[in-house]
Amino acid sequence: MRILVTGGAGYIGAITARHLLDSGHEVVVVDSLERGWRESIDPRASFVHAAVGDASALDAALPGCDAVMHLAGLIEVAESQSEPGAYFDANVVQPVRMLDVMVRHGVRDIVFSSTAAVYGEPESVPIPEDAATRPVNTYGATKLMFEQMLDAYGVAHGVRSIRFRYFNVAGAWPDGTLGEAHDPETHIIPRILQAMASGQREFEVFGDDYPTPDGTCVRDYIHVHDLAEAHRLGLERLGSGGARGVFNLGNGHGYSNLEVVRACAEVTGVDVDVRVGPRRPGDPAVLVASAERARDDLGWEPTRGALKTMLADAWCWHTAGKECSSGIG
Ligand SMILES: NC(=O)c1ccc[n+]([C@@H]2O[C@H](COP(=O)([O-])OP(=O)(O)OC[C@H]3O[C@@H](n4cnc5c(N)ncnc54)[C@H](O)[C@@H]3O)[C@@H](O)[C@H]2O)c1
Repeated sequence: MRILVTGGAGYIGAITARHLLDSGHEVVVVDSLERGWRESIDPRASFVHAAVGDASALDAALPGCDAVMHLAGLIEVAESQSEPGAYFDANVVQPVRMLDVMVRHGVRDIVFSSTAAVYGEPESVPIPEDAATRPVNTYGATKLMFEQMLDAYGVAHGVRSIRFRYFNVAGAWPDGTLGEAHDPETHIIPRILQAMASGQREFEVFGDDYPTPDGTCVRDYIHVHDLAEAHRLGLERLGSGGARGVFNLGNGHGYSNLEVVRACAEVTGVDVDVRVGPRRPGDPAVLVASAERARDDLGWEPTRGALKTMLADAWCWHTAGKECSSGIG
């Protein structure tokens, strides 16, 4: 298949594009480079330097494509609270323009990167796909809104979609050649590993008074390579008229922030002192996925689901390949 991957210069998009190419698909990357990295774009892919709302660029890029994998967007919760207009524009308005171009060219299959943030503060965990969606921040609200647009375009124009609600994505391409490079970085694992790699001796966790066993937030981590594989499976089944709708992507196991810090120390052999700072607004206490649907309907089997595997692969990336222990297996 020929797949247009938006956000293919970002963390997850670049790794997903590489995995699709390795699996024999053709890839066209569309990215504005406002947050991504040109050097992350796979040289085997065609590259269109454009925003997803740029209808004329998409008019030129879409003919010949079988499907769209839409990963582009703005992803920072705190920034979404202070800059809501930018988030509604990047995550809803521009992608809706892209849907119109897709419909015009008869490209009706789309896999969308949604997020556990659509659930907000869950009533219970693990969270199934039919749990209530009550986002507690603008980022989650914009992702949910685009999911709703996909429903509307399904009814009106026959658009077929998969929305993957990712829990916490972690890890790197297992030889350390592609990984997470957000600027600023707000995700806990790369923040800890950056601190360890740069010799910092202290690490701040946000709050220790949550209703969890050790008081710190609990999250479900998924390896970015397992995530890319779910995208490939979803795309291939969507194309053959199979699976559609919402799928959680996680491992169904929660780790507290303190457990993650300890696991990082074990994997890297570097210790840091934990300092407890204030809570970060908009952080639910516990987010753990029920991801049975992806396993049952897509045949998805994560192979790098152990937290220490994710940390080892991410450490390999953060040390530029110097400290690596694993390969794709
Ligand atoms: N990283 C996570 O843990 C996580 C969790 C849940 C959901 N997601 C979703 O996964 C997707 C990818 O996340 P990521 O961590 O790779 O982010 P990222 O910031 O690394 O990559 C996003 C890419 O999108 C591009 N982009 C942003 N706005 C654009 C626009 N309007 N037009 C074209 N390109 C644009 C950026 O330049 C960047 O290359 C996002 O949609 C995000 O909401 C990520």
